[in-house]
Amino acid sequence: MTEPFRPKSILVTGGNRGIGRLLVLELLRRGHHVVFTARRPDAGETARAEYSRLVPGAQVEWWPLDLASLASVRGLAGTLLREGRRFEVVVHNAGTLAPPPERRITADGLEETLQIHTVGPYLLSTLLLPALARPSRLVFIGSALQEPGSRGVPVRFRFDDPFLDAEYHPDRAYKNAKLAQLWLAREWERRHGGDGVHADDVCPGFVPVTASATARGGMRLLLRWVLPLMPFATTPRAAAHLEADWAERDPALPGGAYFDGARVTEPSADARDPELARAFWALLERWAPTRGQPHG
Ligand SMILES: NC(=O)c1ccc[n+]([C@@H]2O[C@H](COP(=O)([O-])OP(=O)(O)OC[C@H]3O[C@@H](n4cnc5c(N)ncnc54)[C@H](OP(=O)(O)O)[C@@H]3O)[C@@H](O)[C@H]2O)c1
Repeated sequence: MTEPFRPKSILVTGGNRGIGRLLVLELLRRGHHVVFTARRPDAGETARAEYSRLVPGAQVEWWPLDLASLASVRGLAGTLLREGRRFEVVVHNAGTLAPPPERRITADGLEETLQIHTVGPYLLSTLLLPALARPSRLVFIGSALQEPGSRGVPVRFRFDDPFLDAEYHPDRAYKNAKLAQLWLAREWERRHGGDGVHADDVCPGFVPVTASATARGGMRLLLRWVLPLMPFATTPRAAAHLEADWAERDPALPGGAYFDGARVTEPSADARDPELARAFWALLERWAPTRGQPHG
């Protein structure tokens, strides 16, 4: 006998455009309730209106969130808790594929790309713990680019220079942030998996069309018109389907999984190292303290 369909309540960050937009639409079409975030009110409202039009009867709402501001993260968590929201899935999709050419330090004193991909999602998930169902699942949207040997400037996360004071490069900022995101997902699973709040890290594959939106110069044209034709590229729709399948994964299944764009596999030795994951978690706790925070 098949289980009757039960809609899940799903939070998707960065749900106004790119893969996030198609993911929200796919989840709504599958009958789930979606709360998504957007940085700008006009983008959030325009996207919500479009989703309601395309999926009649959809239960969808949006809230503002800028992960480059811990005050914004605390604000959203506080609002969702006060509103009594409960989630079975959180998809940490928001991200910046084209970090700035020059290093940017946020008002919180952190390197911007690392904050957007790790510190903000860590803080949001931790503050939302009382609103997460048991079992539930966090899906971190990762990138196979964090693997050693991926094209371009190599990944090199130095614990004595996490903000890349000495060797900033936008590609390294992105790769380091995605490596650190894997540490976050794996350490989250170690700490919270036993309580039923699981975490996985999922790369949707290489999606040049959405990556082109924030690319610069000739790279933008290449990503938009040439690379989508390559056999190693995937479409935004396929990426969104894959992510939606992860969001629908049986929440009781253990987490800590890594999907590299093609299969569930083991990430690099550094990404698997539990000591590095613990060390990174200690930094997260220092950068974004949650103890003594009112939940709501
Ligand atoms: N495209 C790929 O090939 C690829 C491959 C592997 C993994 N990924 C990952 O997939 C995710 C989505 O990528 P995408 O291709 O859909 O990118 P995208 O089209 O550039 O969309 C990024 C989304 O994140 C939001 N965002 C950016 N900075 C933010 C911030 N500071 N606070 C809150 N939201 C922010 C954007 O909002 P705005 O509209 O306000 O900018 C937008 O909604 C990212 O995590 C990316 O790293 C992408």
